[in-house]
Amino acid sequence: MKVVAAAPGKVILTGEHFVVYGEPALVMAIDRYVQVTVSFRSDYQIYVVSDLGVSGFFDKDQFRPELGGVGARKILEPVKISAEVTMANLDETKGFDIEVTSTLPMAVGLGSSSALAVSTVAAIGRLLEITLNKDEIIQLSTEAEKYVHVNPSGVDQSISAYGNIISYSKSQGISRIQTDSAIPLVIGNTNVGRNTGRIVDSVGFRTRKLPNVMRSLTSIAGTVTRDAIDVMKQGNLEQLGLLMDINHGLLSAIGVSNEFLERLVYAAKRGGALGAKLTGAGGGGCMIALTNVNQQETVAHAISQAGGTPIKVKKANKGVRSWFIR
Ligand code: PMV
Repeated sequence: MKVVAAAPGKVILTGEHFVVYGEPALVMAIDRYVQVTVSFRSDYQIYVVSDLGVSGFFDKDQFRPELGGVGARKILEPVKISAEVTMANLDETKGFDIEVTSTLPMAVGLGSSSALAVSTVAAIGRLLEITLNKDEIIQLSTEAEKYVHVNPSGVDQSISAYGNIISYSKSQGISRIQTDSAIPLVIGNTNVGRNTGRIVDSVGFRTRKLPNVMRSLTSIAGTVTRDAIDVMKQGNLEQLGLLMDINHGLLSAIGVSNEFLERLVYAAKRGGALGAKLTGAGGGGCMIALTNVNQQETVAHAISQAGGTPIKVKKANKGVRSWFIR
């Protein structure tokens, strides 16, 4: 008996960085998933194999790599943490075989670490026949997220667990926004890694140098996100596109864009996108372009011509799911 769980990744539609200063951000689940398959072992070890070409055995705090050398541990440790916290309340310890496959690129701001933690918790919980609601899954997956990101806000795990769209702000926390709009996007991956913490710090530097200007920009970003929520509920993609363009301008203004991201944004616009912006921390990672369904291919082509890797996605309406297989 095996259990499979799949959890979606995410993009930030509006509000990144400004969310650090108290304004809301809008986050959407995308139909790209991390999938985890788990079964019991006859011993107490946790064996993890990933399609990233790494695998190994955890025996309590010891790790024995099989593929990928000692570096494999860093990639696989969050899976082991998620499995351990999920069985923490059981009387006895179990061993598991865990296989990870993913259609989400890693470390470019698409929420792969959260999708991995959430799907592992959901799969292990189901296998152990522990009933976990979404909030409990989010809670348990936080331990693995803390290992990957020092201070996770929780929004990535929430979108992986719930799917659809979430708005998040420091004061209001997480609110789910259900919308039937399809929201077709093309992601443009620069394939350039970045360090979110360092980019957040660079914004902090500007904020200390130019507090008045930064306060004004932050307030406009808040208006952009609040209006984006309204137009999305009305299914008005043209307006959403305009707001995304303005949001990108604000992100450029605070210095988190770069030449590569700008090139992809302009290419997408030329290819017919309704709006385009960098998504997430910036400085590398990904941009997103909002399109009509029939325009996705043209925009993807334009992004590819400009040197990015296009990924056509749409909103994932459902969050993490799990099921038994034989
Ligand atoms: O690195 P990403 O793509 O998950 O996004 C970071 C979002 C920021 O607003 C820049 C930082 C944060 O903690 O909200």
